[in-house]
Amino acid sequence: MTRHFLALHDFSEIELYGMLTLARELKDKQKQGVPHKLLEGKTLAMIFEKSSTRTRMSFEVGIFQLGGHGLFISNKDSQMGRGEPIKDTARVMARYCDGVMIRTFGQEIVDEFARYSDVPVINGLTDLFHPCQIMADLMTVMEQKRTYEGLVFAWIGDGNNMANTWIEAAAIFGLELRLACPKGYEPDASVMAWAQAKAPGKITLTDDPKVAAAGADVVNTDVWASMGQESEQKEREKAFAGYCLDDSLLALAKPDCLVLHCLPAHRGEEISDSVIEGKNSFVWDEAENRLHIQKAIMATLIK
Ligand code: CP
Ligand code: NVA
Repeated sequence: MTRHFLALHDFSEIELYGMLTLARELKDKQKQGVPHKLLEGKTLAMIFEKSSTRTRMSFEVGIFQLGGHGLFISNKDSQMGRGEPIKDTARVMARYCDGVMIRTFGQEIVDEFARYSDVPVINGLTDLFHPCQIMADLMTVMEQKRTYEGLVFAWIGDGNNMANTWIEAAAIFGLELRLACPKGYEPDASVMAWAQAKAPGKITLTDDPKVAAAGADVVNTDVWASMGQESEQKEREKAFAGYCLDDSLLALAKPDCLVLHCLPAHRGEEISDSVIEGKNSFVWDEAENRLHIQKAIMATLIK
């Protein structure tokens, strides 16, 4: 059966842990110059309906390092942009490629693509989830803290695709996750309900960033207006007043806490320049780890 990577909830903790372990091994091999061509001759199609720097580069460089080839397909330059049905595109691409990565809007688009695809489909970000990114974030936490067990994770900001995926990760890995989101910008209610049922008491929601940050081991934030929400920028700036991860908010977290941000960041909005450039910031390791976890996800799924 073809296995897709559309959301973390399709995987067990053991399976995800296996990918994190493989990513660590592949990172060591790459650093030591040891060949690891696990996908020799395989081809990955990469469909982008939204912009990207890290996701595109980490998948394209990653498949190359694994001995394969990546094809960048922009929605607007393909027939998808002219209305070719998803189910037709999915079946055609599966005849050419060994895997497909998609960055798009609705989660239902990747779900439909996967239903019609005979090759693994990987979610490279939707409005609902960003599972590849949270895997890179967990890898970064494990590098710095050796484990994710017993740590307190704080999410400060929008209840967006990143927040929803952290919620899924918290439920699967049994993490203590405290989210601070302004009223009206809470995470997806059905994701929250699923996670609360799976891991009762582990995930809490407040509208006070200080409550979430207090004593946290990992403090994570993201832009206030995600891709597709650009027209809401001004009203969101008002709604998110007091949510900037700055030195005073960070001072409430543990002194050795990790600051994570998936990037791109808007300095002076959701995060201050001093925090993103400060000693607690591991955002560059986090960005690098996209490469290693992408390789592990591809090597696990693509046959
Ligand atoms: N974090 C992330 O997904 O970055 P890109 O939008 O540059 O791919
Ligand atoms: N929440 C952001 C993440 C970008 C990587 C967005 O969807 O635009």
